Formats: sequence, C-alpha cells, structure tokens
Amino acid sequence: MRTRTPCTAAALAALLVLSLTACGQEARGGSRYRAETGKGGTVGLAMPTKASERWIADGKNMAEQFQKAGYETDLQYGDDKVENQVAQIENMITKGHRLLVVAAIDGSALTDVLRRAEDAGIPVIAYDRLIMGTGSVDYYASFDNERVGMLQARYIVDKLALTGPGKPYNVELFAGSPDDNNTKYFWNGAIKVLKPYLDSGRLVVRSGQKKLSQATTLRWDGGTAQKRMDDLISKNYGDARVDAVLSPYDGISLGIISALKSAGYGTRGQPLPVVTGQDAELASVKSVIAGEQTQTVFKDTRKLAAQAVRMGDAVLNGRKPEVNNVKDYDNGKKVVPSYLLKPVSIDKTNTQLLVTEGYFTAGQLS
Ligand code: GAL
Repeated sequence: MRTRTPCTAAALAALLVLSLTACGQEARGGSRYRAETGKGGTVGLAMPTKASERWIADGKNMAEQFQKAGYETDLQYGDDKVENQVAQIENMITKGHRLLVVAAIDGSALTDVLRRAEDAGIPVIAYDRLIMGTGSVDYYASFDNERVGMLQARYIVDKLALTGPGKPYNVELFAGSPDDNNTKYFWNGAIKVLKPYLDSGRLVVRSGQKKLSQATTLRWDGGTAQKRMDDLISKNYGDARVDAVLSPYDGISLGIISALKSAGYGTRGQPLPVVTGQDAELASVKSVIAGEQTQTVFKDTRKLAAQAVRMGDAVLNGRKPEVNNVKDYDNGKKVVPSYLLKPVSIDKTNTQLLVTEGYFTAGQLS
C-alpha cells in the first residue's frame, strides 16, 4: 500500500496559492497524482465490450505492453453496460491501482467515479473515446476521429465519381452511438465532405434522415442498424436504388449489408451499393475481399495501445507524455491533451497492407 507524504502547514499555504506540487500530490495536465514514481503496481484497464473484436485486441495489447513495461494489469470489460463499467472502475480505485485507462461506454457517465479516482491521486487516460464533462481526465489517446469520417465520405465521393458531371445518386447515412463522443467527430468529418453534394442535389437522401440525431445507432449495434436499413429500404426505395451507405463502423456495415441482401441487393442485376466502415475487423476485411462491404478504416490497435502505454508510463514516472493535439478535444470541462494517430482507408486494392503490417496473416484473409 502506498502512502502519501504528510502535508506541512507551509505546503498547505502554498496549495492555497495554487502551487499544487508539494503535498505528496502534484499537478500535471490539470490533475493531481500521487507522489510515487517508478515501475510496478497495477494499471486498471476498463474496456467497453467484448462484442467487437477490436476491443478484445485493444485490451490484450495494452495488458501485454504494460506488463512488458513493468506493471501488473487488471483488464475488465463492461459488457456495454454503464453500471458495470462504473463498478469496475470503483473496484480498481479501491484496490489502489496506480493508473486507469478507460474506453468509456457512455462518455458522460463517469464524472462521479473519476472524481473519486482524482481524490485518490490516480491519473486517468481516456482511451480511443474521450471522457466527457469531467476535469478528472488527464490525457487522451486516439485516432484522428474527424479524419476517419472524412476518409469514409471521400471514398463515397470517389467511388461514385461525384466530382465530375453526372446523375444524382441515392445515399443513406448512419452514425455511431449517441453516447460515444467519437460519433460526432466521425459524422462531422463525413458531412463536411458530403455537404456540397447533398446541397447541390448530386447526392440525395431519399429517407430525408440527414440529421445526426436521426442516424445514430445505440451502442454501435449491428442488429439495430440492420433494422433501420430494412425500414429505410422498404419505405423509400420501392422503385429506386440505394447507391451508397455511409457507415461509421464495421459491425454496423455488416448489419446494413444483411438488410440490403434481404432486399435483393448483391446480385448481378442489382449489385450492392458502396458501403463504408471502420476498424478493419476480420469479418469486414473478408467481406471487402469478397466484394460486399466496399471500404473500411484501419486503426492499428497495437499502435494505440503502445501510445497509451507510453503515456501511462510517462505519467507514472513523473514525465510529461508526448501529445500532438491540445486544441480539438474539449470535454466540456477542459481541453484534454491528446495524441492522435493516423487512420488508413482500406478497400479491395490494399487489404494486403494489413498482412504486411502484421495485423492479419495471409491465411486469415484467404
Ligand atoms: C468507437 C471507435 C470505433 C469503433 C466503435 C464501435 O468509439 O472509435 O473505432 O470501434 O467505437 O466499437
């Protein structure tokens, strides 16, 4: 059990005049940490769900890399239930873990529990998804989320050759979970690219569902997306064709494709529309190779894990983690210093990259 250095009266006075560095805690990135530095102790890893292969990989990669760096790890999955994740984090605080890395289920539901982490001097890194409405988050490791949306939308623009003259095409728009802060970044990035074509009528949303609030998919659930797509097709595409679907995530893309196939798409006379995605999950990469899903966005979870481990190790050793964005990720209480990695668009022409990068083996993709 670690103990804190007792505060002296002078240090308390110094605290009052905003010097937060003398009492066995110190201020860095707006949060107060315990004074102990060095290796050892346990890092709590709070991941959202095992329903998607990416989060399984994220958790495994981080656990391995933190262990290599000299820490023990406590990896927990919240089964997409907010109350589970809160209880898991509470437990990590009670156990005296030194650092928390959290991929939030609901980015706005962790304020109370993270205040407890801050009171206990435990630093917090938001992993992939920003944690909202709290000052008790110190750093954010993610991908350039707006760019993800831009890559998806640019793919639609290129595939339908929208920059040249031509006929109008029909598109339907899907977004991620409304409680995930990433959702609006993906959406805004995509809409920025699609807007000129939506405005000019070159792209038509026959359902009229053009607002983020109409397009979200609770908890990124593929089944929910499939039902919405079924509905969109039956109500709006009697004699018309869907030419493209903006999908923010592979699990959603596969749901959309199932709905399209049930409605008769995927045949020679009625090919599937352009369907985007994200995460380069194995099932989707196979679908891309099979000519069904058209595109996905590769976000190397090993690199993200490595980034979170570097940040965590720096914080635990009294160093300032490297960041490359200090303006875009405002969680409502503070702008969280962030490190953003670059996402890469994948389609049929470059799935080989996933093999050369060692993300999948050739056997897995064959
Ligand atoms: C987002 C994440 C995406 C995708 C999605 C569903 O927060 O950035 O890459 O994984 O969750 O799990």
